[in-house]
Amino acid sequence: MLVQLAIFASGSGSNAQNIAEYFQHHPRIRVRLVLSNRLGAGVLERAARLGIETLVFDRNDFYEKDTVLHALQTAKIDWVILAGFLWLVPSYLLKAFPQRILNIHPALLPRYGGKGMYGHHVHEAVKAAGETESGITIHFANEHFDEGKIIFQARCALLPEDTPQTIAQKVQALEHAYFPKVIAETIESL
Ligand code: GRF
Repeated sequence: MLVQLAIFASGSGSNAQNIAEYFQHHPRIRVRLVLSNRLGAGVLERAARLGIETLVFDRNDFYEKDTVLHALQTAKIDWVILAGFLWLVPSYLLKAFPQRILNIHPALLPRYGGKGMYGHHVHEAVKAAGETESGITIHFANEHFDEGKIIFQARCALLPEDTPQTIAQKVQALEHAYFPKVIAETIESL
């Protein structure tokens, strides 16, 4: 039986593309839908190039109406993957997909997480703190930013000459290396 993923992203979508390509030839799992809260987000172009259906929604759709939930149910989505999605997940979605929503954060939670900690803000804080390592955290989403049960973490060493930009590159390499595999292992483990 096919396991269908929906990916939510607000930005460029390099993780969404990486995940979609990883599952393109998977026997049981595939990316069925890509959703974004930002018209013009790079992720939409990447999805279109891969022939994946997309949906753009606004705050009203997401928090006031059942537009998004209806689209997920119509597409028979089994798991929701947040790959650079910057809005809080509403409780109706957590209820519709209990322990079925995964998020990736570009730092070693619980540090460097929470509201406003995304993208370069994360790497600037890690750099400012003089950390000797950073990494990624993959976790089940809950009603708060970057909380929920941690499933996986991977680390990268940081050197004094690293900048927020080079840290971002090291972290993104981990994201692309691990996120699809962790998604597959989490789904197959149930
Ligand atoms: C990644 O750093 C991811 O960890 C975070 O948002 C960023 C998404 O990057 N959640 P991209 O749009 O997939 O390139």
